[in-house]
Amino acid sequence: MQSSLVLSFSPPIKPTPPLRHLHPPSAIASPPLLRHQSTTHSMPPEKTHIFKSLQPWATHNILPLLKPVDRCWQPSDFLPVSSNSDDHFSDEVRALRHRTSNLPDEYFVVLVGDMITEDALPTYQTMINTLDGVRDETGASVDPWAMWTRAWTAEENRHGDLLRTYLYLSGRVDMNMVERTVQYLISSGMDPGTENNPYLGFVYTSFQERATFVSHGNTARLAKEGGDPVLARICGTIASDEKRHENAYVKIVEKLLEVDPNGAMTAVADMMRKKITMPAHLMYDGQDPSLFEHFSAVAQRLGVYTADDYADILEYLIERWRLKKIEGLSGEGRNAQEFVCGLAPRIRKLQERAVERAKKMEPTSAKFSWIFNKDVMV
Ligand SMILES: [Fe+2]
Ligand SMILES: [Fe+2]
Repeated sequence: MQSSLVLSFSPPIKPTPPLRHLHPPSAIASPPLLRHQSTTHSMPPEKTHIFKSLQPWATHNILPLLKPVDRCWQPSDFLPVSSNSDDHFSDEVRALRHRTSNLPDEYFVVLVGDMITEDALPTYQTMINTLDGVRDETGASVDPWAMWTRAWTAEENRHGDLLRTYLYLSGRVDMNMVERTVQYLISSGMDPGTENNPYLGFVYTSFQERATFVSHGNTARLAKEGGDPVLARICGTIASDEKRHENAYVKIVEKLLEVDPNGAMTAVADMMRKKITMPAHLMYDGQDPSLFEHFSAVAQRLGVYTADDYADILEYLIERWRLKKIEGLSGEGRNAQEFVCGLAPRIRKLQERAVERAKKMEPTSAKFSWIFNKDVMV
């Protein structure tokens, strides 16, 4: 099945050797290569004023999508209470381990991959703060774009925390290998091709938040089917945060389409041409140079995140942003519109062909260090 994933998860990576020096030598053996980074600051500087002028709009339309801390769930709400008596705490941990005991190893591969993706949060806050016109200029700026980014990060921070602790208590995964992967990944960063350009950045985050909503929703479903309703609730609760965040980023792009339809339409097309790369695409555990492809293949096989989901998300965004209906575009804008609006059927066709090809291939497996080097079909 791995070949079928090339479409959505791992677009061909062009080696860019000069960028290798960005990795401290101790952090690399043979992790994935970077692919985009030649273009920077692609938004014309005069467009920065658009984001300044949208500050009041962001205050009234985006900041309210955050949840006040006292109304937010916290990881400890879902975990055994360590301040309980020894017996009570042990019973709760035993119950947790009993619930997870029937979930298959391949489920843990996907859940670990999702957790690692969440845990590389420092990278995502860094990425958003590369964007011209919306970055947090001081670290505590009261500009609404910066306030959103910090509070979004704070909300997101609970996701990796909760999943990591749950995985630790389950005893089903090799935490040391999981932790190494997180360390490698945060050291490597990410390369989404957003070029310091907030148009590209917000298209990327719109897509990405929906992708995580879909994927956590599916790990919730599988946990329920596998006999762990608490884990199902955990993944479902995380998914609903992602949905709220998706809503914010989608609204921002919707607003950009209103104030600068050509600029926003070409940004959507640009990101889709590059293909949306998953944020953890540089993941590495010190052993498997194809770790991300292998993880993606298992996610595809289990139906947690698939090439069809990729096309579904694109279609959802086309609909949500009413991209087909936007009129009065320039030549460049119209070309972008035509490209984006015709893309989903093409992706599905390519995917069907990839599935057909994969059916003819011998089934293959990969060893995952996260689950003590056990083999899983990919
Ligand atoms: Fe998240
Ligand atoms: Fe998210």
